[in-house]
Amino acid sequence: MYTKILEPNEQNIEYATYILTKGGVVGIPTETVYGLGANALDDSAVEKIFIAKGRPQDNPLIVHVSSMEMLEDCVVEVSDIAKKLADEFWPGELTMIFQKSELVPVAVTGGLSTIAVRMPRHKVTCDLIEKCGFPIAAPSANVSGLPSPTTAEHVYNDMCGRIPVIIDGGECEFGLESTVVLLRDDDVVILRPGAVTKEMIEKIGIGVEVAEGVGQNVDETQPVLSPGMKYKHYSPKADLALIDSDLEKFCDYVNARKEENIGAMVFDGETSKVQVPSITYGDKDNPLIQAKMLFVALRALDDIDVKRIYCRVPSVDGVGLAIYDRLLRASGFEVIKL
Ligand code: TXA
Ligand code: MG
Repeated sequence: MYTKILEPNEQNIEYATYILTKGGVVGIPTETVYGLGANALDDSAVEKIFIAKGRPQDNPLIVHVSSMEMLEDCVVEVSDIAKKLADEFWPGELTMIFQKSELVPVAVTGGLSTIAVRMPRHKVTCDLIEKCGFPIAAPSANVSGLPSPTTAEHVYNDMCGRIPVIIDGGECEFGLESTVVLLRDDDVVILRPGAVTKEMIEKIGIGVEVAEGVGQNVDETQPVLSPGMKYKHYSPKADLALIDSDLEKFCDYVNARKEENIGAMVFDGETSKVQVPSITYGDKDNPLIQAKMLFVALRALDDIDVKRIYCRVPSVDGVGLAIYDRLLRASGFEVIKL
């Protein structure tokens, strides 16, 4: 299959709508990361997403809607908490888990009776969903296990020959996947941290619990609330290890091993302090910049030819938790405390 990257003009959006309506898969931009979209109500279309990504069948997809009416079609009930969260954070970087309606095939939800739904903010994808008139199921547009794509070029690198079209909506605004929350009667549980933080949800008067396994290792024999949590993810080809220490100890540790074919992932202004190949993932005190640069940096690590990479640990405050959580998974939960 020949894969084209297309500008998001009217004619190309029309073309993408046509492909989606016919049951095909399209690479779509969102404000979090790029997605691999297909008609969420068509199980054979959804099947193609799993094949293109090489994704385990039991890992459910997120369904993207453009209106509350579309949400209502996909779920059994929209609770008061869900309405409040939607009012505050939709369209945007928040995914909520509902009981699914009969309309949605189980292929989308990996056999679960629940469904993850998000209303994205990126204009191109909102237009596309509206033109299609059906919800679009879309996981991140990477090959399963690799870092999520934040540019059309990343999607092309992973999906060339596997999907017909990628709509280029520019660089993703946030750069990490959405916050996923499980809705309960009186509060919510964060299953995956993202741009919408615990503090932001608490600020509107909703209680928040952070699920075990967020920013932590998961015991593979235990049942998890979100199937995605049990998979190692975002991995560069080299072995990645996180170093929890101050800058001085980090540099001593890395520089003492400079003969060992290693690299370093550091913050801005720190590259000159390490004597091995290194790349940065943003300002130490700016988690929004780190979020934007993290997956770009993880992908770029594959261009420096080293066997093992040591990474500076970010602060876990606010959005920082999302960055730490992704790094932890990329490292296969390897943290060295100095
Ligand atoms: O920002 C995003 O969320 C991006 C863009 C494209 O919207 N999508 C994305 O999808 O990150 P994906 O498939 O890579 O991650 C979906 C996560 C997985 O961890 C999955 O296990 C979880 O959401 N999930 C989906 N449905 C679920 C459900 N019914 N219950 C619990 N977790 C669910
Ligand atoms: Mg993903």
